[in-house]
Amino acid sequence: MKVLISGVGVAGPALAFWLAKAGAHITIVEKAPSLLSNGQNIDVSGTAIAIIKKMGLMDELRRLNTREKGTRFVNHTGCIFASNPITPGQSTSISSEFEILRGDLAKMLYEPTKSHPNITYLFNTTITEVLSNDEHSVKVKLSNGDEAEFDVLVAADGQWSRIRKQHFPAKDLKLLDTNMYCVYFTMPRLPGDSDWWTVHVAPGSRIVTTRPDSHGTYRGMFTHMPTTAAQKQAWQAAATASISFSEKDNNSNNISNEQYRRKIQQETVKRTFADAGWQTPRLLAGMSEAQDFYFQTIQQIRMARWSNNRIVLVGDAAYCPTPLTGAGATLAIEGAYVLAGELSRLRDGEHPVRAFEAYDEVFRPWVDTKQMFWQWAANAAHPKTGLGLWILQAALWVICKLVKVAWVVKLSGADASDEVEDFKVPHYPKFDECEERKY
Ligand SMILES: Cc1cc2nc3c(=O)[nH]c(=O)nc-3n(C[C@H](O)[C@H](O)[C@H](O)COP(=O)(O)OP(=O)(O)OC[C@H]3O[C@@H](n4cnc5c(N)ncnc54)[C@H](O)[C@@H]3O)c2cc1C
Ligand SMILES: *[C@@H]1O[C@H](CO)[C@@H](O)[C@H](O)[C@H]1NC(C)=O
Ligand SMILES: *[C@@H]1O[C@H](CO)[C@@H](O)[C@H](O)[C@H]1NC(C)=O
Ligand SMILES: *[C@@H]1O[C@H](CO)[C@@H](O)[C@H](O)[C@H]1NC(C)=O
Repeated sequence: MKVLISGVGVAGPALAFWLAKAGAHITIVEKAPSLLSNGQNIDVSGTAIAIIKKMGLMDELRRLNTREKGTRFVNHTGCIFASNPITPGQSTSISSEFEILRGDLAKMLYEPTKSHPNITYLFNTTITEVLSNDEHSVKVKLSNGDEAEFDVLVAADGQWSRIRKQHFPAKDLKLLDTNMYCVYFTMPRLPGDSDWWTVHVAPGSRIVTTRPDSHGTYRGMFTHMPTTAAQKQAWQAAATASISFSEKDNNSNNISNEQYRRKIQQETVKRTFADAGWQTPRLLAGMSEAQDFYFQTIQQIRMARWSNNRIVLVGDAAYCPTPLTGAGATLAIEGAYVLAGELSRLRDGEHPVRAFEAYDEVFRPWVDTKQMFWQWAANAAHPKTGLGLWILQAALWVICKLVKVAWVVKLSGADASDEVEDFKVPHYPKFDECEERKY
């Protein structure tokens, strides 16, 4: 079987790993010139951990842990009023036991596949056109000018998948807007910085946080839920800003669209957060200097169908749950495993549609449960007024105290470890027969 994957994020390399194990030949294209190292802390939990164990990568996952001690909340002046440490073996903490930087996770999955004889990585390459997608094959044209024919084309190109946009009807896509925006960046670590995820909730629906990382630097994040129509308009415009023709004409510095968008986004952040208190001035300065500024519109992707003939979606392209659920990477790893597993069950030359149907049947109910999140939780975390802020602070304080009490842990069912297999994957003979083989 010849498979073309678009996107070297989390889902792409994980899928390539398992497909190669099943005997497929894989080409994987990525639009960025090299592996993207950006992104912040993400969680990996449940069955995804079991899959990583099967890949022989558990030691790597442990080694790359950000070693965050837990989450704590500070007020305007930096006084800590509630804290929630990580307890190994329990999921009561807001920080996960397997907290890893997105870039580290992508690299961890890429490394064991990069020199596999049956996997070819092409960076700085995109699919410019799908020439045909029929009974016999899917034919594509790549940006390097090559034309090639495959049995399957997988879109692992993230939340704003181009393949999804071009090859799935718009009516199949449901976008759930959470009215929330996140901005991530890396900054230098200073002597007094802590190993906790430190959260400052400011009125006006603003959150400012800092987190440790395993690279000797420090991670800043702003999140905002616009409270007025004007704010919403400004943030939405920043998300999609691009140079207009008239601006291009007086564009004396010749900046690229991406640089222009970044400039608009940072100006919007600065305007909104100027008076948010705590370490905000330091973070705003750090943001301007950062190499890896990343602005994310928090919208959930729900697709009525995950495949169209020989084209199939995996990871965020199919079911981006948003960071509010902490499940994006977990679903990408699990989805890649199930999709590869179902493809591995096909007979020689069989049309992949049967595998795609099984992938949908096995995995969709699990995705549905993971995609559920409570908008009120996001709203509650972003209070608009001083009173709302006071209520939130009191509630956080109570929650942090409660989770320390064992019986509450038991009662709430939160005593399950992050390592417990929560989604039962089917048995795929090709993956289970030679477990200790490593590439
Ligand atoms: C730079 C970056 C930073 C992120 N930071 C965070 C974070 O801090 N917290 C968080 O919760 N989630 C973050 N995410 C999202 C998170 O990675 C996903 O939710 C999850 O890991 C699922 O991964 P995925 O492989 O489906 O998608 P992604 O990790 O988004 O990977 C998609 C890949 O496809 C590539 N791509 C896109 N379009 C094309 C194209 N046309 N042709 C070829 N390749 C293409 C992208 O460059 C990217 O490498 C980030 C994603 C990216 C790309
Ligand atoms: C990426 O490819 C384009 C042409 O497709 C080329 O102009 C550019 O130099 C390449 N960039 C890198 C970093 O290889
Ligand atoms: C911050 O918390 C400290 C300790 O609880 C308190 O003394 C101080 O008044 C608080 N400051 C603000 C601005 O709320
Ligand atoms: C690569 O694919 C060929 C079949 O085309 C197979 O015989 C070989 O074992 C594969 N290599 C690896 C390392 O899986």
